[in-house]
Amino acid sequence: MKWFSSRYAYPLIVLSLVVSIALQAVWLRQLFVSQKDQLKKDLERVVSTSAIHTIYASIAGSGKRGDRFKEFFLSPQWLQMRQAFDDLKINGVHSKFHYGLGSDSSVVQIEIVFNNHSTKKEASATDLRWNDESPGEVVRIDNRDIKTMDSTVSRQLARLGINQSKQYALYGYGKDTLTSMTIPQSAYNTAAYHSGKYSYNLKSMHKYRLIVNELNGVVIYQMRYYLFSSLLMTLLTCLVFYFLLKLIRNQRLYADAKSTFTSNMTHEFKTPVATISVALESITKYQLVNDPEKLQNYLDISRHELQRLNLMIEKVLNLSQEEETSNIMHEELYDVQAGLKQVVASMQVQLDNSKSTIHLSLANEPCFVNGDPLHLTNVFYNLIDNAIKYAGPQMEMQISCQCSANNITLSFKDNGPGIAGVYQEKVFDRFFRIPGVNDRHNVKGSGLGLHYVKQIISKHGGSISIKSEQGRGSNFIIILPAAV
Ligand SMILES: Nc1ncnc2c1ncn2[C@@H]1O[C@H](COP(=O)(O)OP(=O)(O)OP(=O)(O)O)[C@@H](O)[C@H]1O
Ligand SMILES: [Mg+2]
Repeated sequence: MKWFSSRYAYPLIVLSLVVSIALQAVWLRQLFVSQKDQLKKDLERVVSTSAIHTIYASIAGSGKRGDRFKEFFLSPQWLQMRQAFDDLKINGVHSKFHYGLGSDSSVVQIEIVFNNHSTKKEASATDLRWNDESPGEVVRIDNRDIKTMDSTVSRQLARLGINQSKQYALYGYGKDTLTSMTIPQSAYNTAAYHSGKYSYNLKSMHKYRLIVNELNGVVIYQMRYYLFSSLLMTLLTCLVFYFLLKLIRNQRLYADAKSTFTSNMTHEFKTPVATISVALESITKYQLVNDPEKLQNYLDISRHELQRLNLMIEKVLNLSQEEETSNIMHEELYDVQAGLKQVVASMQVQLDNSKSTIHLSLANEPCFVNGDPLHLTNVFYNLIDNAIKYAGPQMEMQISCQCSANNITLSFKDNGPGIAGVYQEKVFDRFFRIPGVNDRHNVKGSGLGLHYVKQIISKHGGSISIKSEQGRGSNFIIILPAAV
């Protein structure tokens, strides 16, 4: 599995993302095209049904007509018939409708006039005995029916989500030439949709053609749920892959850190053992019992190294028993200030060696917590050890302690390299060491110290935070609940 995650995971994830986005794009495009075709069919249907309704309204007027009348004039067969007549354009043939509406019956007559003379003159029925409307009346009816037709179309288009960008053009009935339109010619030419031409009454003077300037926006609006779900899917996939990549990266970092830890550990365990052995050997070899000052020095060094060893063991123990640390904690009334003084005293040799100084600014009265002296001492040791390690020679540290009725606030402020904002949370992760800095100065460590510190402080019901800027020192602030 290791070979897979390290070598193929990234390209595979990127590839699947690209393929999934590309597939969605192709699918959405196809959907867009078919939706647009469907919309055009719907528009055609809107105009033809509006034409049927307008013709019906035009014939029926306000009087009451029988069911059969309505059924016939709203039927598709009638529409076909009507269009067949509209398309009847043979030389010497002329078709015309007449209708008479009575209280008992309604009569519609279809007139086809065949010209008897082979002249080019159009066949006419003016010499027959029909009582038709006057030309003025025909124009009035035509104007009225155009309005009815257009408002019927508008109503039906609104149902499809088309409210603007709708226009119409009128064609002369017989000659089929454009007579008027509600948009400029250029817009007419570039419009996204032109419907067929439809008659809207029986005494037709014109044919009606619907024009829609813009269809893409309407199609996109109709596809909004598909688009939204596809976007959501893509986002979710990206999110899942992002977390997957993060997980893989963390695992790799963790694996790297673990192997560094093992090699550093050998160093950390070996050094104190070797130092103590040399110190004890020197005491015996040079009969240092007779030189109390030197003896004290060697004993201090040994004590300090033992403390380091002990801390190392505690950190590793804590690592393997993270969940059970509370079980191995031993709580008692512990004076934090006394503990601090003791730790600083035990590190004096180390401080002298690196020419470092610690200023303790303590409260006058003891500050008690309910805590484990061993672990809390380790916490202080860890923070001071870090300052000595990372601030380099001539480190200056300010340790202060403030006690209030509820809390004890401890501050460990050094003049070291500081910790950049991005790492301030991460330094508490196990095995984490700031990349680059430690390698440059060859400072050894396991990356467990601050993780252990945080664990112990939380187990005591407290908190730890960092105030730092890169290059401007670090200030670790610990707040512990005071013993009541
Ligand atoms: N006072 C400090 N100033 C600057 N950087 C620090 C300071 N304390 C810790 N760091 C950074 O935080 C990292 C994590 O510290 P931590 O104490 O957890 O591990 P370590 O010191 O590397 O190893 P260990 O303490 O286990 O021996 C360090 O590697 C170092 O880069
Ligand atoms: Mg450390």
